[in-house]
Amino acid sequence: MTLKRGKIKWGIIGPGKIADKFAFDLQHSKNAVIHAVASRDIEKAKRFSHKYNTARYYDSYEALAKDPEINIVYVATPHAFHFENTMLCLRNAKAVLCEKPLGTSTQEVKRMFEEATSRNLFLMEGLWTRFIPVTEKLLALLNTNAIGDIQFIRADFGFKADFNPEGRLFNKKLGGGSLLDIGIYPIFLSLLVLGLPTHIKAMARLSPTGTDNYCAMLFDYENAAKAVLESTLESDTPTEAHIYGSRGMIKIHRRFHESQKISWYQNRALKETFVLKYEGYGFSYEIEEVNQCLINKKLESEKLPHGLSLALIHLIETVQEKIRLPGDKQNPLPS
Ligand SMILES: NC(=O)c1ccc[n+]([C@@H]2O[C@H](COP(=O)([O-])OP(=O)(O)OC[C@H]3O[C@@H](n4cnc5c(N)ncnc54)[C@H](OP(=O)(O)O)[C@@H]3O)[C@@H](O)[C@H]2O)c1
Repeated sequence: MTLKRGKIKWGIIGPGKIADKFAFDLQHSKNAVIHAVASRDIEKAKRFSHKYNTARYYDSYEALAKDPEINIVYVATPHAFHFENTMLCLRNAKAVLCEKPLGTSTQEVKRMFEEATSRNLFLMEGLWTRFIPVTEKLLALLNTNAIGDIQFIRADFGFKADFNPEGRLFNKKLGGGSLLDIGIYPIFLSLLVLGLPTHIKAMARLSPTGTDNYCAMLFDYENAAKAVLESTLESDTPTEAHIYGSRGMIKIHRRFHESQKISWYQNRALKETFVLKYEGYGFSYEIEEVNQCLINKKLESEKLPHGLSLALIHLIETVQEKIRLPGDKQNPLPS
């Protein structure tokens, strides 16, 4: 990869809500610049370009993917287009950071990684939570056996969303539902802490459009540990995570996926609370991880390798099967 003037050139596809926050953090990176943005609406692309001072803007994702100056593309479209948009970039020799969920099925995610690897290109799922200081602190505490043997995890993610059958949260065609949008975070946490479960139980309540409005999951592990996980678009829930062990407990304060505070309890007493502040929206850690991977010519991040994203989508798909989401014919839920 040629890094002109030493800076990595990013392109952004789908300048919506999350792309705006991501670009805010990206503009402060020492190693990178936002080179271009692409929207289906040229006026929107122009506005975003002016806001973040990009060299170019495009009215099609394809035109951005073909820009020879771009090193990496951030894909920030709704889930249902991640596969198509990422493949477009990879086929045009661009590395990709694609928002979560990387794909909507194991088959898609496998194909994306195969394409990237065969072309010697970096590809990562945009699970920024993996890189924030609180997650690093959690892993460090667990590595020192701070709470003994892990017995169970409890984590939820919920907010009340206004029902809009056309919006991406409730529209099946856009990959709607709580599980793919926010259930992915508690599932990811369970995967980081406990690995793959041996058994999964799940129940859901569906919205009028057939997407899951609420999903409760129970994971069982070989060593008898458990994970109790929830996601919902129906209510503002605590959105906290607790990891319970034989000698203590770790609490990741709300909202745990973007948390700046983690508390460690031992033998029923608070041992220490760590306040780990970050600037901006918290994407800078993910951005720097990607920049460093590109500078060091790595095709995947050691902190979020391809295998972890494959395990994650496999878990999500297993939950979907339990709540009978993929087959419309099978909905509503059996009694
Ligand atoms: N990391 C996080 O914390 C976080 C938070 C929220 C969301 N996300 C992820 O980021 C992705 C985007 O979420 P968002 O909330 O930013 O979504 P959004 O604002 O609704 O949409 C993002 C952009 O996607 C583009 N798009 C392309 N085809 C579309 C279609 N058929 N319908 C609607 N939009 C279309 C639009 O850009 P143009 O029309 O301008 O091309 C739109 O602005 C999701 O996959 C979500 O899971 C991540």
